[in-house]
Amino acid sequence: MAALTLYPESERLPRGERITFNLYMISALLLFVLMMVLGVIMRMGQSLWLDVPPDLFYQVLSMHGAGMVGTMSLATTAVMWFFLRKYVRLHLWAFLANYLLFLCGALCIIGAVFVGRYAGLWTFLYPLPTHAMGMWGNGAAACFMVGYLFIGVGSLLFYLDAAAAIIGRYGNLGRAMGLQWLFGGTIDPDHPKAVVASTMVVIANSLGILAGAVVLVMYLVAIAYPEFTMNALYAKNLTYWFGHMYINATIYMGVMAVYELLARYSGRPYAISRPFLWSWAASCVFVIVVFPHHLLMDYAQPRWVAVTGQVVSYLAGFPVFLVTVWGALTNIHRSGMRWSTPSRLLILSMFGWAAGILPAILDGTIGINRVMHNTQWVPGHFHFYLLLGVLPMVLALLYHVIGSRRAAPPDSGADRLGVPVYLIGGMTFALAFLDAGHMSVARRMSSHLAEWIPNDRVGAIGASLVLLAMVYFAVRIIHGLLRAPGAESTAHAAG
Ligand code: HEM
Repeated sequence: MAALTLYPESERLPRGERITFNLYMISALLLFVLMMVLGVIMRMGQSLWLDVPPDLFYQVLSMHGAGMVGTMSLATTAVMWFFLRKYVRLHLWAFLANYLLFLCGALCIIGAVFVGRYAGLWTFLYPLPTHAMGMWGNGAAACFMVGYLFIGVGSLLFYLDAAAAIIGRYGNLGRAMGLQWLFGGTIDPDHPKAVVASTMVVIANSLGILAGAVVLVMYLVAIAYPEFTMNALYAKNLTYWFGHMYINATIYMGVMAVYELLARYSGRPYAISRPFLWSWAASCVFVIVVFPHHLLMDYAQPRWVAVTGQVVSYLAGFPVFLVTVWGALTNIHRSGMRWSTPSRLLILSMFGWAAGILPAILDGTIGINRVMHNTQWVPGHFHFYLLLGVLPMVLALLYHVIGSRRAAPPDSGADRLGVPVYLIGGMTFALAFLDAGHMSVARRMSSHLAEWIPNDRVGAIGASLVLLAMVYFAVRIIHGLLRAPGAESTAHAAG
């Protein structure tokens, strides 16, 4: 059965596609390692194991936040492209243009932070970037905003190409999401889950990016004409609409690796179902309106918006999460799973997503948010599901792809050691943040109180383990991706 073939013909990459995919993924792996180094530096600084002056800490925090979010988006965009291109006709130029615009954006952001000393964080909240009190200039702030605009334009270009291709194949976006089967009818069992998920991402993330573009352009106007002022609450709403949507979209793009690959390793078909279609349809609506849960402490916000933020928090992520985790568990239960590094990473990603979403939903509850939101509980929950949920989805696909160039999934002794080191390091690191939240340790602080240091040190040790494992994964995967393409042609084995 085609769906269970480990390395189907439809996934073989012609030369141009392979080079572009490699460019995306090798850049992403190198950036992940570099951004992790910055993360470890911050954690070591908070632990007093390294002397990190406050001004440098906030530059590093700005670079790490923007860099990690951007890199995760770059990598998961490549995951989406890898699978979506099997079902619809995507243009390579759009995929490549997104990569080049990302590079331009990354250079602007790196210049703004390390040359211009921008330290207004990845959330660039109004009016901080333009009121730096001499710490950095308006030029650096403008450069940072232009960097984001480059990255946003690249993503929009890719999404427009994807939308046109999806509409060309399925007639409209609703049919691509399977809305015609919500209330009845026989669901086409071959309707690809990756198309449903991609369509949702195209709709929701395009709106978020447009919201971000509006606020970024308003910032540039404010920098050029200082007499122009913005409504701070309006700016914050637009900023979080963009920021929340953009990072959430990485989960929805990354999860396509689970939908497409899991069945091949379990050897059991992973059928599409009506609850699956309902969940993606519901999440598509809710994820667009859930961002006010970032503004529960903004008391100027109308009350009904805050209440919407809380209620929708429970509804937005849960349907897709439940249907995916339930689907994955039933798929692997007593399946005689073919255990190797890609399948281990897929299961790790389900665990990381499942465990990380719980503290996130708690934080979306108004009563809890009032106590926890400015503590390290928040970096605790998002590092949990990004580091242990989304990044393993990307790594699973990459391990799978390098396996296709060797005829079998990679599973060396070092690979088998790398996964638990990453898991133990990641758990220690994320739980230290959550525990710090429980102790009310303030987030985004370069200097910590003496009572907090032991916890910081546990986190720093966990972070160093993650970094170690990631360096290994990066070297291993880059080496695999750069293998001579000739190795590929003989390597297509059936599962
Ligand atoms: C070894 C891995 C990592 C380490 C050591 C690390 C470390 C840190 C530290 C120490 C902070 C500041 C926490 C605070 O006190 O508020 C932070 C913030 C942050 N990290 Fe990480 N991190 C890692 C991985 C990641 C990943 C994989 C992502 C996302 C894909 C990520 C995204 C962020 C973001 C968005 C922030 C918040 C920036 C802000 O508050 O403005 N990190 N990280």
